[in-house]
Amino acid sequence: MKNLKAGIIGFGTVGTGVYKVLQSFKEIEIKKIAVKNINKKRNIEGFNQNLLTDNAEEIVNNPEIDVVVEVAGGINPAFDLLKTAIKNGKHIITANKELLAKKGEELFRLAKEKNVVILYEAAVAGGIPIIMPIKTILSANKITKIAAILNGTTNYILTKMHEQGLSYEVALKQAQELGYAETDPTGDVEGFDAAYKISVLSTISFNQRVSIDKIYREGITKIKPQDIKSAKELGYRIKLIAMGQVLENGKIDVRVHPMLVSKKHLLAKIDNATNSIMLTGYPVGDLIFTGAGAGAEPTASSVVGDILVLASELEASDKPLPQTICHHDKNAVQIEIGDTYNEYYISINASNNPGAIGIIGTICGRNNINISTIMQNGIKEDNTAEIVVITEISKESDIQKALKEMLESDCIKNIDNLLRVMN
Ligand code: HSE
Repeated sequence: MKNLKAGIIGFGTVGTGVYKVLQSFKEIEIKKIAVKNINKKRNIEGFNQNLLTDNAEEIVNNPEIDVVVEVAGGINPAFDLLKTAIKNGKHIITANKELLAKKGEELFRLAKEKNVVILYEAAVAGGIPIIMPIKTILSANKITKIAAILNGTTNYILTKMHEQGLSYEVALKQAQELGYAETDPTGDVEGFDAAYKISVLSTISFNQRVSIDKIYREGITKIKPQDIKSAKELGYRIKLIAMGQVLENGKIDVRVHPMLVSKKHLLAKIDNATNSIMLTGYPVGDLIFTGAGAGAEPTASSVVGDILVLASELEASDKPLPQTICHHDKNAVQIEIGDTYNEYYISINASNNPGAIGIIGTICGRNNINISTIMQNGIKEDNTAEIVVITEISKESDIQKALKEMLESDCIKNIDNLLRVMN
C-alpha cells in the first residue's frame, strides 16, 4: 500500500471518527485538519493541536497532500475548496451527499480531466458498503430497481410513531432530545437528505446522471397517528422510501416519499435509525444491504475504506484504476410524478351521508381507478367518517384528478392523506 498524506476538512462527529480509525493505519499520514474553531477543546487522547488550521486553503493548496477528505458538509465552501484541490491534482474522499447531488457533474468532469478520483462511500447510507460494490463486483449487472430507507432520523421517528402511537411532533421532539434529529430537522424530515442520496445511488446504479432537480420529494411531516393506525390494521408499516427504477421505455422514475410498506416486505422490518437498500439487477437478482446509515464509527469505516482503496490503487499505478472513476456522461430522462404508476392509500373524511362510499367508488371508477380495499370504522363525534381506500395500480395523474373531483362533492369534507403503497 502506498503511503498517502491526507488533509481532512471538517472535524465534527465524522471527522473525529475518521481521525481515530486512521490511527491504526500508519501508512496514511494526516498532515492537516481544517476546523471552524481552532481553540475548541478536543477530547482525543494524544491529539496534536498543531494539526489544526482554520484555513482550509492550507489543505487544498498544500503540495504535500495527496488526498483531501471532506467531511464538513454543505455546498459552501466545500465546492470551491474541492475544485481547488482537484485542480491541484489531489484525490477526494467525501461524505457530502448534497454536494455530490447538486455539483457532482462539474466535480466529476473536473476530476476526470485532472486524472484524480472522487470516492464517496460514506455519502450514501453511512457505514453500508454500497457505492464500491456497485462500481466493482456488481458491474456485470444491469440494475433496474432500487428501494431503500436512506434516512435514519425519519426511520427512527416513524418507528416511534408505530410502536408508541406518538404524534409526529412528539416523536420528533424525542428524536431531537436523543440526538437523532437536528435542531432544524428540515433536511431529514422533508426528505432532502434521502433525495440527495438516491440521486447519487441511482446515477451509479443506472449508469446515467439523475438530476436532483427532477426527483419528486415528499417528507414525513404530514403523517398522522390515524394513518399509522390504519396502516397497521391493513397490514402495513409507513416508511420513508427512496426509490428508483428504469422503466421499459428506458425512462427513469426516481422519487422520495412515505409509503405504506407491506409487513411482509423486508424494508418494513427495518426499524429505528437503521438504513437498508434493496437492489434488483440482472444477473444477480435481488440484494439487500442493511446497517448503520450514520454515526462516527460506521461512517469512518466507509471514509477510511475509500482512503485505503485509493492507497492500494496508487501503489500499483500513479493513475487510479478505471473502476473508481466516474463515467456517467449521459443524462437520464426522468419522468414526472404524474406519470408514475402506484397502488395508493387514500384517507378521506366524509359526511355521514347515505351514498358517500358510492360517490367515492363512482369517482374512482370513472378515473380508471380500481379499489382493492375500503375501510370505515364507524362514525366520529362530528358526524363524519374516515374512509380509507387502497387502490390497485393506478396512474398518479388519474388519482390526482379523482381527488379533485371528490373534493367538489358536497359529502367529501377533506382528503386527509394520500400515500403510495409497496407490497
Ligand atoms: N441525517 C442523516 C440521517 C445521516 O438521519 O440518516 C447523515 O446523512
